[in-house]
Amino acid sequence: MDSITVLKNKRILLGVTGSIACYKAVDLASKLTQAGALVDVSMSGAAAQFVTPLTFRSVTGRPVFTDMWSLDDHVRHVGLGETADLLVIAPATAHTLAKLAQGLADNLLTVTALAARCPILAAPAMDGGMYQHPAVQANMTLLRERGTLFAGPAEGRMASGLTGLGRMIEPSELLAHIRLALARGGSLHGRHVVITAGPTQEALDPVRFISNRSTGKQGLAVAQAALDAGARVTLIAGPVRQPIPIGAEHVAVTTTQEMADAVCAAVKDADALFMVAAVADFRPETQSDQKIKKTDQEWGLAIGLERTLDILSAVKEQREKTGFPRVALGFAAETQNAFEYGRSKLLRKGLNYIAVNDVTAAGAGFGVDTNKIILLSSAGVVEKMPLQSKTAVAERLVHHVAKTLNGR
Ligand code: CTP
Repeated sequence: MDSITVLKNKRILLGVTGSIACYKAVDLASKLTQAGALVDVSMSGAAAQFVTPLTFRSVTGRPVFTDMWSLDDHVRHVGLGETADLLVIAPATAHTLAKLAQGLADNLLTVTALAARCPILAAPAMDGGMYQHPAVQANMTLLRERGTLFAGPAEGRMASGLTGLGRMIEPSELLAHIRLALARGGSLHGRHVVITAGPTQEALDPVRFISNRSTGKQGLAVAQAALDAGARVTLIAGPVRQPIPIGAEHVAVTTTQEMADAVCAAVKDADALFMVAAVADFRPETQSDQKIKKTDQEWGLAIGLERTLDILSAVKEQREKTGFPRVALGFAAETQNAFEYGRSKLLRKGLNYIAVNDVTAAGAGFGVDTNKIILLSSAGVVEKMPLQSKTAVAERLVHHVAKTLNGR
């Protein structure tokens, strides 16, 4: 796993309590460590019966605290609670949630939770109908009112063989919730950001369509970078080939017209628009209700095409009237004269920024994990980026837009 900027060198205190889901906490600790976080683990006595401290120590390379405390441990542990960026309690049993709600401090973890100055994120895990019990629900409501964040539980098969709500969510999902928790207070905190991703498709008949090679990688990376910067994200996506980042409000579209309608509605109160989608510029003049047969003479060999709407031009008109979105960034996918075409698109579409990318350059463009961008504003070149991951490109674009929004 690659390092993740929002997690890099962050101090995560991982509290593990007694549930079979402890084995998932090991995977979580490993993923967090690989992503660059500094993970200190605190296990309850019951948790240490499921997984050994050595297991966590092996994946984090850092000390693990258990309930066999010495005075030194106690002081150090409380100190960790004070300096951590986030306390994650995963799995969080019904018993631990009850103790946290009551402010009980009978083991190292609950002592630390009381001493913690950082946000607390809990991932409940419990079997049978325990999760639905009014006592558990009341404890969670109380904790939520006090600012505790919750991720899950999920529905599925539990250790007892019963199926229901109560499983701890998967480590990869929990990692996404940890990112969201750490993003609060980021450079786009309190901002609404609209991002488009992927291709649009224009149907010829029920089985065929006109589209392009976009897979949505760059747009999804921008959505993740905006979430990591603390934004509320609306992601308007054509048919993309990767999962939608957790935390984004997903609007699924197919055609250019659907994307245009969704964008014009979403930008009404938006601080920024990142128009990353590769929008289909043409659609068939007519669509057949039935599959076109190769013997259908009326279709002949030629397909008549008409222009679709230019979404950014529609946004420009709306923006001139309402002032929203406050900042607009477009992409220019070019195969020749990238700089000149990019600059003229910036002016024509009334953008603050345009990310020009020569889609024929080695390692750049559709489907690959890297991109090479020149970012332009009306004042000229803002940043000439080296060939780098689409994630790194996304973070730079978010950086520049946040700077403009924040007046710096
Ligand atoms: N775009 C849009 N609506 C369209 C086509 C493109 O809003 N119908 C947006 C893209 O999302 C991108 C920018 O406009 O942010 C430039 O897209 P690009 O395909 O590079 O340019 P086009 O406007 O399609 O111009 P051309 O076909 O001449 O390259």
